[in-house]
Amino acid sequence: MQGIQGKAPRRIIVTGGAGFIGSNFVHWVIEHQPDVRVTVLDKLTYAGNRENLSGIPRDRMAFVQGDICDADLLEELFSQADAVVHFAAESHNDNSIADPEPFIRTNVEGTYRLLEAARKHDVRFHHISTDEVYGDLALDDPARFTEETPYRPSSPYSSTKAASDMLVRAWHRTYGVRATISNCSNNYGPRQHIEKFIPRQITNILCGIRPKLYGDGLNVRDWIHAEDHSSAVWAILSRGRLGETYLIGADGERSNGEVLRAILEGMGKAPDDFDWVRDRPGHDRRYAIDSTKLRRELGWRPCHTDFAEGLASTIAWYRENGAWWMAAKEAVEAKYARQGQ
Ligand code: NAD
Ligand code: DAU
Repeated sequence: MQGIQGKAPRRIIVTGGAGFIGSNFVHWVIEHQPDVRVTVLDKLTYAGNRENLSGIPRDRMAFVQGDICDADLLEELFSQADAVVHFAAESHNDNSIADPEPFIRTNVEGTYRLLEAARKHDVRFHHISTDEVYGDLALDDPARFTEETPYRPSSPYSSTKAASDMLVRAWHRTYGVRATISNCSNNYGPRQHIEKFIPRQITNILCGIRPKLYGDGLNVRDWIHAEDHSSAVWAILSRGRLGETYLIGADGERSNGEVLRAILEGMGKAPDDFDWVRDRPGHDRRYAIDSTKLRRELGWRPCHTDFAEGLASTIAWYRENGAWWMAAKEAVEAKYARQGQ
């Protein structure tokens, strides 16, 4: 699949722009691309927060609260856009295990609706996906995921992301939609919902609750700062080859136990001051990204290469922004407690 990339887009729709990575991307674009105007389309589910976009001037961004499954709304927005960057999703594995339905609707049907709107209005489409579509690797396997790794998703969440990737590929090949896909590894940084691993443990400690580690704690994730994800997405949106997939990763493999110990140490706690809890069903063992294609073709490099530093600033962000997460904490922990986690 090949294509010729046109000039950099000026009017972009960002779906899911009030969520964790979407909002980091919007802030990145506002700061680094002065000629670009953003329209955020976000349903504001439990994971979306309008506050995530505070401070952005009105002449640079419009906010539309709405559903990516709403074809009439998409018709209106796509008639005035050059490109869409599609972050909106149900994004949490544990939730998908408890109730897969919203994942099918938003991740699969929602992507289909957006592709149809992009096809009709010839809007450039960049699809945000995950390394989880490739399943997992063994702890002792020297291999990492590449763009050629076969799809083998494990969870309801990752299977809906895999389905959405397939729709994007088909709409590119069959209808000529000017699309690219990126599959990124685990993100961390400010404004990540406290249901996710790193912010859950930081906010547990801040609330006097012991952190919770699933299974044997040896599962490995490949961590990247959300700002580095954003710069990679911009490189692909503006210079990537149409029809291509790019893997995004920053060589950040660490076991969950290692990450938790770093959080405990960074917050002045003893290394054993946590609880072991029930493992996630079907828990993927290890993810690891080989991002050679992105680096060679587009010259992308991560800026946040010191994990300890990135983690320290993330801990500081949660410490300083209690009002952002405090209201959700009790309900999140009650839900986990019902699941034995
Ligand atoms: P998030 O859960 O923090 O945010 C998702 C956003 O999408 C929220 O603002 C929510 O309100 C919005 N949304 C959900 N359903 C919607 C709908 N039907 N219509 C409009 N908006 C809707 O998610 P995130 O962690 O920021 O992930 C963003 C994207 O990046 C997802 O596509 C995810 O699969 C992908 N991804 C995430 C990671 C990660 O580590 N978090 C890594 C790789 C890829
Ligand atoms: O790899 C990319 C994916 O990373 C994204 O596609 C997903 O949207 C994103 O949520 C993330 O998925 P994970 O399932 O890897 O992330 P999560 O933060 O839920 O968990 C990270 C690891 O930590 C995982 O091995 C499970 C474990 N864990 C999680 C929680 C919430 C714990 O040990 N304890 C916990 O309390």
